[in-house]
Amino acid sequence: MDTPVNILAIVGSYRKTGIIERAVDEILASAKERGAVTRKITLLDKRLTFCTNCRSCTQVAGENYGVCIHDDDMSALLQEVAWADALMLASPMNAGTVTAVMKIFIERLVCTAYWPWGTPAPKARRPRKSKRAVLVASSAAPAILARLTGDVTKRLKSAATMLGAETVGTLFIGLAAQQQHQELSKRTVNKAHKLGRKLAAGKSAGES
Ligand SMILES: Cc1cc2nc3c(=O)[nH]c(=O)nc-3n(C[C@H](O)[C@H](O)[C@H](O)COP(=O)(O)O)c2cc1C
Repeated sequence: MDTPVNILAIVGSYRKTGIIERAVDEILASAKERGAVTRKITLLDKRLTFCTNCRSCTQVAGENYGVCIHDDDMSALLQEVAWADALMLASPMNAGTVTAVMKIFIERLVCTAYWPWGTPAPKARRPRKSKRAVLVASSAAPAILARLTGDVTKRLKSAATMLGAETVGTLFIGLAAQQQHQELSKRTVNKAHKLGRKLAAGKSAGES
């Protein structure tokens, strides 16, 4: 029997009944139906402190992520990421980009890089992409306009890369704020199910 695929969703929406959580749940449910083991983390439930730019976590070379000066939920979150074969990163588009809570998480990913003082740019500690990722985003504007004017998928994709994941699909839900509690359209549900099946389909070559 094949080993089940472990999927972790990291959600940056502010609303548990919002469109992002609904879409994420559809993707996870569809992956689960295909035998995947799924977990979901809502960032708002976690204690995540702002990065202070002390760069302590970037000074020591090596594959291990740097240790942060903050004793909060970030290291447990990174352990969950290590458990996962596949990731889902999800955020509404707020002010043209990911939500503030997702941005805090992304900034804290600086620990995934080696960046000693005196060097111009960070270098990924684990450049190999051994996981797969799906991105989920939503906007009040039509998707095509939001994708042109905002950078939410760019930010999520870059976070996936920092976590060693290759992005294999994106669900961008436009016109997502027409009603206070908006249902997913049938088309979006179908797309979500397709992505769930894709994530559950198996491990990439080279994954253990
Ligand atoms: C503070 C704030 C800023 C927003 N900025 C944008 C924006 O720049 N562009 C856009 O299309 N929608 C914007 N929206 C609408 C959200 O993207 C939309 O409500 C969200 O995708 C719904 O996600 P949720 O149901 O998971 O909360 C904004 C909403 C809020 C509350």
